[in-house]
Amino acid sequence: MLDLLVIGDANPDVLVFGAPATPAYGQAETLVERGVLALGGSAAIVAHGAARLGLRVGLAAMVGRDAAGDFVLDELTSAGVDIGACARHPDLPTAVTVCLNRADGDRAILTAQGCLAAFGPEHVPAVAARHLHAASYFLQPRLAAGLREIFRAARRDGATTSLDTNDDPAGDWTLQPDLLGQCTFVLPNQAEARALTGAEDPLPVLAATGAVPVVKAGRDGCAALHGEQRITAWLPAVEPVDTVGAGDSFDAGFLAGWLHERDLRAALALGVAAGALSTRAAGGVAAQPSLAEAAARAREVEVGEITRTQSA
Ligand SMILES: Nc1ncnc2c1ncn2[C@@H]1O[C@H](COP(=O)(O)OP(=O)(O)OP(=O)(O)O)[C@@H](O)[C@H]1O
Ligand SMILES: [Mg+2]
Repeated sequence: MLDLLVIGDANPDVLVFGAPATPAYGQAETLVERGVLALGGSAAIVAHGAARLGLRVGLAAMVGRDAAGDFVLDELTSAGVDIGACARHPDLPTAVTVCLNRADGDRAILTAQGCLAAFGPEHVPAVAARHLHAASYFLQPRLAAGLREIFRAARRDGATTSLDTNDDPAGDWTLQPDLLGQCTFVLPNQAEARALTGAEDPLPVLAATGAVPVVKAGRDGCAALHGEQRITAWLPAVEPVDTVGAGDSFDAGFLAGWLHERDLRAALALGVAAGALSTRAAGGVAAQPSLAEAAARAREVEVGEITRTQSA
């Protein structure tokens, strides 16, 4: 049995560093500092990170029959991810993301959806796993429509489940009714959590669905609400080289902590450590830590706790 089956997006990321604030058009060629080709897609980065952390991981994703698809599957296989559940679309291309990183740290992310739009629940085989994690809900509408049933079946078989919606390019932010009721954890970042709930403090709203919300907050770490306990985890900020995929590496660390120890505080600490360590290099996967590295850094994480009534 796998420890973790990740379901979702996988694509190459082309990362451009030192992009001008607004790229010049008119067929102009602009020289930039650096370009990197890296494994991308939230689900692929989570799977890669979790394999680095010692879990037995499978990925259910869809790529095309093209060089981009070969690259994605080669990167995952080299990291020890089981790609037996990955499908290849006969006609549509693999999704591709181009990330323009500006000198001030902000970035524009351009994604061509390719075959992600065709990826559906029928492409997700019933693989036995202790935990199911789904990523990039809004990029895969066909998968999204069947996710609640996939999670329900997994929970019936004793698995725990988690969802990282990531961004909604359409700005709609509507989830399938009761999907969060089938999630053990929901793992958005702060902006996503606010967009999903319409609330300045999204934790109680998300917790009311039955899922344990864990909200990522960049250099401020993360916060979770479990019953009446509001738990924060924080690590002194690192000066990041590149934060692409930090949230996905956080998810990998969090899930590894959860599956190794079944303890929320330990999982938050390992998540924060894995997220922070992943920012040491360009791209989502190059600096993902081993379990020993992440565990050492997790010991420096400050975990705070207040009861909900105190925080109100
Ligand atoms: N500058 C930083 N210093 C320390 N840790 C960081 C920094 N940036 C990110 N992290 C770590 O990475 C985690 C996830 O970061 P973030 O909130 O940016 O997620 P995200 O927005 O989902 O990222 P992604 O771009 O991967 O979707 C944080 O909780 C934190 O642990
Ligand atoms: Mg994210």
